[in-house]
Amino acid sequence: MAGSGDNLRQRKKDSNGAAVKKTSATSPVARNKKTGGVRLSTLLYIVLFAVGFAAYYDPERVFGLVKPYIFRTTWQPVPSSSSYDPDFTADVAKRDAVVGAFKHAWLAYERDAMGDDEYHPISHEGTNLTEAGGIGYTIVDSIDTMLMMHLDEEYQRARDWIEKKMSFDRDAKFNTFETTIRVLGGLLSTYHLSGEDPLFLEKAKELADRMLPVFDTPSGLPLSMVNLGKKEGVSDVDNRGLVSTAEAATLQLEFKYLSLLTDEEIYWEKAEKVMQVIKNAHLTSGLASIFMNPEDGRFVLSAIRLGSRGDSYYEYLLKQYVQTNLSEPVYRVMYDDAMNGVLAHLVQKSTNAKLTYTSELIPERNPAGEISWRLIPKQDHLVCFLGGNLMLGAITTGALTKNVSVPPKQDELTEQGKRDWQAGVALIETCMRTHDTATGLSPEIAHFRIPTDGMDFSGAALDWYIKGARIGEHPPYDARYILRPETVESLFVAFRLTGNKRYRDYGWSIFQAIEKHCRVESGGYASIINVDESPARMEDKMETFFMSETLKYLYLLFDDASTLPLSEYVFNTEAHPFPIFNPTIRTGFS
Ligand SMILES: *[C@@H]1O[C@H](CO)[C@@H](O)[C@H](O)[C@H]1NC(C)=O
Ligand SMILES: *[C@@H]1O[C@H](CO)[C@@H](O)[C@H](O)[C@H]1NC(C)=O
Ligand SMILES: *[C@@H]1O[C@H](CO)[C@@H](O)[C@H](O)[C@H]1NC(C)=O
Repeated sequence: MAGSGDNLRQRKKDSNGAAVKKTSATSPVARNKKTGGVRLSTLLYIVLFAVGFAAYYDPERVFGLVKPYIFRTTWQPVPSSSSYDPDFTADVAKRDAVVGAFKHAWLAYERDAMGDDEYHPISHEGTNLTEAGGIGYTIVDSIDTMLMMHLDEEYQRARDWIEKKMSFDRDAKFNTFETTIRVLGGLLSTYHLSGEDPLFLEKAKELADRMLPVFDTPSGLPLSMVNLGKKEGVSDVDNRGLVSTAEAATLQLEFKYLSLLTDEEIYWEKAEKVMQVIKNAHLTSGLASIFMNPEDGRFVLSAIRLGSRGDSYYEYLLKQYVQTNLSEPVYRVMYDDAMNGVLAHLVQKSTNAKLTYTSELIPERNPAGEISWRLIPKQDHLVCFLGGNLMLGAITTGALTKNVSVPPKQDELTEQGKRDWQAGVALIETCMRTHDTATGLSPEIAHFRIPTDGMDFSGAALDWYIKGARIGEHPPYDARYILRPETVESLFVAFRLTGNKRYRDYGWSIFQAIEKHCRVESGGYASIINVDESPARMEDKMETFFMSETLKYLYLLFDDASTLPLSEYVFNTEAHPFPIFNPTIRTGFS
């Protein structure tokens, strides 16, 4: 609620008051008042009464009719959008610099840890996720990036490993969601990008078949773990057997694409059933708590957020609609409903600089057992995917035409489309502001200052801070940068949808900061433990998403925009692109 009110105020302020003044000066209401006699004013009261009456019974329609006039002059598809020529051609020098970084990362892994799931660039060692042996986590996650970058020799060696050494016959627990998005997703996108090399589809099908038992629960929601060797779902005992919403609802792009490729409906049915269960569990706000119970298929009282365990649920609502070429309206409805909830309840403006950010809602029980929700002004780096997602949603579910311009014109978008576009643009700006640190990199978690949090922010330089950070003490978990991709992911989408160089400039500044602070001279890239310390202290880990997502999105940001156009491809949450298709299987629920 607070969010939408804030939005309204902000939009009026953004227009320098011009729009508001203009409407009052030319308003027929104002003129009539000055010039009219008694009869005219009586008529006026009748009209006002009728409008008020209509607004009471159908506020959205009335407001919708009036809003375009009030906000006419406030449409700005990108910040400071003076006229510019979109330039979608490759920035070759920057693109090649990203390829150089990829090679620096990959060759170190290959030298020190080929075949191991994860890489530690400082100790020059690899580790596996489980004692039972690796599943090609890093290799499969990175191999489609090699194809895009035309690294043919590296690609051949990675392919050889997959052909000769990869095995899923591992008697150990793997995370259902991570295995799906990284390994299944990587195999499927590589199958497509390699011109349908059958090796990758064979491996993808084998993996998915080993995973299918996770869906054998009373509700159809998947268990969070899978024993790939035994082909068994495993409950997550650390979380009372619950599954997080994002984990349950971020398997669909992968399983549905596999159904398309194999002509076997089982993957589709299992993945789609999850969406039906989630739709039935619907919370009134359109939002989703971060935990669900696979026994009864219901939400469990828990936080509501766009960060960890919540994030990609919202992402995949839109992307499922996109994947099947806008042919399954149920996802459009679910996405729009969710974004209404997000914009109304979670999106806030910071106190001084009016940065748009997202909060979390935490449930609290008072001694009488009543539940109330507390808004925590805490934004994970993970949430930075949302800016690009909102912009993509705006030109998809919020479009009035099939052919939205680049960037969109205001009469091509619905009211919701314009709202989501502007929120997305603003969120990206905020994510960039969280890079205003000693290293130019953003922390894992940013807290925004609010009047009631006891922080003295009258003299504060920034509207946000890293909670628990104290000079001279060990930096808190929140202060880390672990090579995450979400900001550059949004920059890539924003660039494709606007052609505005601003987003390439932002991406370049992040890339340079990574080069300066995360690059390990002997090979590879490392996380850093405090973004506010320069030179940074490194941590001995290179997450697989660095080569899979961060460098891929940076590469695509600088590559010619005809590569993998968003009108033909949908990226899974690990940046593995799948082609958009017209489904032969119809949605089984509405
Ligand atoms: C990881 O698993 C692979 C495959 O079983 C094995 O060859 C490799 O030695 C393991 N690596 C480590 C560090 O244990
Ligand atoms: C969409 O717009 C582009 C560029 O303005 C134009 O080339 C194309 O023909 C249009 N497509 C349709 C279906 O109207
Ligand atoms: C998506 O649907 C449109 C018609 O609405 C069609 O022109 C287009 O070819 C379809 N795309 C794919 C990839 O099937």
